[in-house]
Amino acid sequence: DHHVNVGILGLGTVGTGVARILLTQQDLLRTRSALTFTLHTIVELNWDKERDLDLSGVECITDAQKMLENPEIDIIVETIGGYEPAFTFIATALRNRKHVVTANKALIATRGRELFQIAKENGVDLLFEASVGGGIPIIKGLREGLVANQIERVYGILNGTSNYILTRMHQEELEFGQALAEAQAKGFAEADPTLDVSGGDAAHKLTILASIAASGFVNYQDLYIEGIQNITKLDINFAKSFGYTIKLLAVMRRMENGLDLRVHPTLVPNNHLLAAVNNELNAVFVKGDFVGNTMFYGPGAGERPTASSIVSDIVDLSRDLLLKEGEQFSCRTLNPEQGIPVVPVE
Ligand code: HSE
Repeated sequence: DHHVNVGILGLGTVGTGVARILLTQQDLLRTRSALTFTLHTIVELNWDKERDLDLSGVECITDAQKMLENPEIDIIVETIGGYEPAFTFIATALRNRKHVVTANKALIATRGRELFQIAKENGVDLLFEASVGGGIPIIKGLREGLVANQIERVYGILNGTSNYILTRMHQEELEFGQALAEAQAKGFAEADPTLDVSGGDAAHKLTILASIAASGFVNYQDLYIEGIQNITKLDINFAKSFGYTIKLLAVMRRMENGLDLRVHPTLVPNNHLLAAVNNELNAVFVKGDFVGNTMFYGPGAGERPTASSIVSDIVDLSRDLLLKEGEQFSCRTLNPEQGIPVVPVE
């Protein structure tokens, strides 16, 4: 029986979701991966907040260094967000030869290059499925499912908060500020929501997708970025009267001399699928030269979807650990030993 010990840095919205999955889906994860995942330690500064989690048996501490140095912990999940101390903690974990999983798009987009270098030097991995598209497996989709393709285009809605605000402004006579307050209350917004409404968060995510698509590193500073701060109800009513919906789009187009990369509000015709992507939902079209157009759609923010992606990375890393130990069974194959009953149609 193989065990994997997981440590979480930061018990905010996303960290809480990861803890919840590790505590409640253990049997399912064991069936799928032949591994037992244990939530070993959580580092958090504010233990007073009510989270509705049973953390008995989990080491709950405030000292990050203690967890990062604990040889019993195999995988560190970083769900603090922001640049520091997240960068230093991830770098330390990698140098201590621990695999790291993060949802931190700002960090991956702006300092990912340094972190991946450290990971490489130490023979460990840094995975970040949750950094783009919340619960949508867009990174695995791009990196694995579409690996045979030259990626020609990536475009879509990558920020749940601004999409939520625009949706509420289209559907009701709601002011920008009111809609933003709702998105914050629902746990979609960044700690500093400026990043959401200024297009910065969508641009971080586009930087990551473009880097994967182009198999290299895109410089975040090179993107054209315009947010939704200046969209008024008047703009929305004009768009509506001409049959359009205003959406904040992130766009990558492969050109002869590089990538065209931009984030800005766009008039989307109402008969386009993107016009129907509402609230915090995200949707990304990816066009590959062999596959053609594909669409990835789903919840782009929030505790449970984002945690779902983080845990997919944890299992991914663990499967590699298992394969290194010579174990054959993994969730890449179907389990030939397990028959499943089908309920008869009435
Ligand atoms: N603040 C982000 C959003 C969270 O609204 O999309 C998910 O990355």
